[in-house]
Amino acid sequence: MNFPGYRMRRMRRTPALRAMIRETKLSPEDLIMPYFVREGEGIERPIASMPGNSQLSIDCLVARAGESVALGVPAVILFGIPEVKDPLGRSGSGPESVVYRAIQALKSAHPELVVIADVCLCEYTDHGHCGAITERRDGQPDVDNDVTLDLLTEMAVSYAEAGADIVAPSDMMDGRVAAIRGGLDAGGLSEIPIMAYSAKFASSFYGPFRDAAESPPQFGDRKTYQMDPANAEEALREVGLDIEEGADIVMVKPALPYLDLIHQVRERFGYPLAAYNVSGEFAMIKAAAQAGWLDERAAALEGLLSIKRAGADLILTYWANDAARWLA
Ligand code: PBG
Repeated sequence: MNFPGYRMRRMRRTPALRAMIRETKLSPEDLIMPYFVREGEGIERPIASMPGNSQLSIDCLVARAGESVALGVPAVILFGIPEVKDPLGRSGSGPESVVYRAIQALKSAHPELVVIADVCLCEYTDHGHCGAITERRDGQPDVDNDVTLDLLTEMAVSYAEAGADIVAPSDMMDGRVAAIRGGLDAGGLSEIPIMAYSAKFASSFYGPFRDAAESPPQFGDRKTYQMDPANAEEALREVGLDIEEGADIVMVKPALPYLDLIHQVRERFGYPLAAYNVSGEFAMIKAAAQAGWLDERAAALEGLLSIKRAGADLILTYWANDAARWLA
């Protein structure tokens, strides 16, 4: 039936009617809150480019994560800011590392909280790249894929031993999911899932995060390992490989500029899917809201809802706590 017999506006007449036919629902359970942890005590160092977010010492992290728990946000993901950096990112692994101790503290204070450990070297290397550096045949420096696999595996195993519920490699080395899976299984940690940053693009939207994590590359860029924003087929190939290698959750990152891929990964693989609403997506709306140009709450919730509508099951977002509050 067509107009005038059929009228789309009938079911839009009242809030209750609109709610009855709402197809997508956003809930706090869908959200994962990122936190940045550093050494010290009583430290909450605000991140200028990400208003409302801070670098936190472990004690403050435990308190903040308590807010997430109270708001019904089921999971957090941790990024570490170490005191010392070296070419191999050694300070990122082992019982001395800040994330290791943060995981232990979080799990003992909030046993029900799902603690996800981001696994990558860029916060811990003095050159800021996501792996060990080697010299190519043309004399240019580049990240050495296979050497990096061992370093990532060591890091992932150490975080799992600390009590992390999920490990999440964000480095984009080839073969890292299989390497980490092998390391976890050999270490008696076969129950620990891997959330793989599968289709992670070399994006300009990571700018504020690199301030927050003090991790910008000191030379060059990440284009020899992160993906070309032009490539969708390749992104699907990346996702397929990570699934074959044993990923339990796959991810598309960033989220809003890549909704087409979130949708395609959902359709093609029907696999648990996360999307990372990254720092630049957050900063844009924050800045526009501060200028009085748009309503932060409405814009943020619309973006998050759209990421879900596109097909994501889980959303990593700096609005996780605020969104849970708004949805309550
Ligand atoms: C590190 C990492 C990055 C992000 C998550 N893990 C930055 C990068 O790859 O440069 C970005 C997150 C964000 O922008 O919110 N590998």
